[in-house]
Amino acid sequence: MYKKVLVPLDGSIRANVAAEHAMELAKTMNAEVMFLHVIPALPPYVNSYSDRLGGAYQQINDELETTGREIMDKARKEYENSGVSLEVKVIWGNPAMEICRESKEGRFDLIIMGSRGLGEIKGYLMGSISNRVVRHASCPVLIVR
Ligand SMILES: Nc1ncnc2c1ncn2[C@@H]1O[C@H](COP(=O)(O)OP(=O)(O)OP(=O)(O)O)[C@@H](O)[C@H]1O
Ligand SMILES: [Mg+2]
Repeated sequence: MYKKVLVPLDGSIRANVAAEHAMELAKTMNAEVMFLHVIPALPPYVNSYSDRLGGAYQQINDELETTGREIMDKARKEYENSGVSLEVKVIWGNPAMEICRESKEGRFDLIIMGSRGLGEIKGYLMGSISNRVVRHASCPVLIVR
């Protein structure tokens, strides 16, 4: 039924559980999967906010990129022999917006993601990103608890 599945990952345990669900489901549906990580870039104005921030701004963004790529390399390795067609993508931006944009532009027909992510400290059922994606995505969303 579903042929293209988008799986947003942030390196959290719940996102990894969602990836497991996605890969199992994709196998049974003969679907393609894309793992997507959105690097939550610091807003560009931070750079001009204070001269002293220049170096730190660059350093933080570099570190975010390195970490993001590590998360995705690990995820790719985990499933490279799964028999499912898997693509991995890393982009910069606002995570919820980019997840919705990618799902639309890439014509995905299902998004599978975790209910919570790295920020799991509050008692809410869903994090802010899963919340926004459920509300704004143009395709069905499967939230894995
Ligand atoms: N930067 C990201 N890139 C890709 N997917 C992400 C990203 N952040 C979160 N996700 C996806 O969204 C799911 C829910 O995470 P979310 O960030 O909404 O919860 P949280 O981290 O617990 O809460 P919050 O971020 O609001 O403090 C994750 O399991 C993952 O699938
Ligand atoms: Mg989060």
